[in-house]
Amino acid sequence: MTPVQGRPVIIDCDPGHDDAIALLLAFASPELDVRAVTVVAGNQTLDKTLRNTLSVLSFAGIQTEVAAGADRPLVRPLVTAPEVHGESGLDGPALPEPAFSPSPRKAWEAIIDLVRSSPQKVTLIPLGPLTNIALALRTAPDICSNIERITFMGGAARDGNWSPVAEFNIVVDPEAARIVLHSGVPITMIGLDVTHKAQLYPSDTEALRAMGGRVPTLVADLMDFYSRFHPRFGFQGSPMHDPCAVAAVLDPSLVTTRSLYVDVETRGELTSGQTVTDFYGVTGRAANVDVGLDIDRDRFVRMLFEAMKRYE
Ligand code: BDR
Ligand code: CA
Repeated sequence: MTPVQGRPVIIDCDPGHDDAIALLLAFASPELDVRAVTVVAGNQTLDKTLRNTLSVLSFAGIQTEVAAGADRPLVRPLVTAPEVHGESGLDGPALPEPAFSPSPRKAWEAIIDLVRSSPQKVTLIPLGPLTNIALALRTAPDICSNIERITFMGGAARDGNWSPVAEFNIVVDPEAARIVLHSGVPITMIGLDVTHKAQLYPSDTEALRAMGGRVPTLVADLMDFYSRFHPRFGFQGSPMHDPCAVAAVLDPSLVTTRSLYVDVETRGELTSGQTVTDFYGVTGRAANVDVGLDIDRDRFVRMLFEAMKRYE
């Protein structure tokens, strides 16, 4: 019998508590073949997000190509999120020194080469600002035809978390987001409309801790720090932003989407970084994004828990 091959994916991230959990979900899922992890500045500066990526993977006994990318957005100064993720970008649990070194090549070089050389189309899963992805698409537009889909965490059709109308990953690098949305590649946007409905509650954190095992305990410890931020939104739990994007690749039926035209505001005085979503077709433009609007939270949490148990 031929062994089942996982779907080839590249994860681009800026760990970040929810990025770390998303990586652990992806690597525990045999349906995915993670060809590389690329790293961008976002939640913290690039040196920190790179170190966090290497440390989390090392903790879980995972070794793969980890390539560092952009240390700043395409045209703006970097904005980071220490309020959410702490000064290290991954405050809370003590993590080990990285057990392996980053790739000698840049993130976009790895993306371009891995996509070009893959016999099967590759799915990209960006979980941070879209800078690395935009640089790859701009440098090598030919790779677009060998990208199966870009399923990114970011944006919001009707919500905001960094401004009343805009989400952090897009606020950090709206110019990059615009390049990606206009690339012609099939795109799924897993924005706040989805992720705010995918909260882990304190009882879920305790259930993770009760599993025992190093990785579920690490996730529970990450949640302890990450969950300090969310009561200010009036939430009872903490949104699992980045794991939702991985989950949507693992099982697209978890997420309800609508095919709509989406553009990014890059100049608005009050609205920079807004993913402007045309629900009523008033722009007359063809849909370019499958916009995530809802998620089956219970199935999502079950998927996450099952994956964490596989580390035991
Ligand atoms: C996004 O911003 C970051 O803080 C998280 O890691 C996630 O990717 C949510 O707005
Ligand atoms: Ca992130």
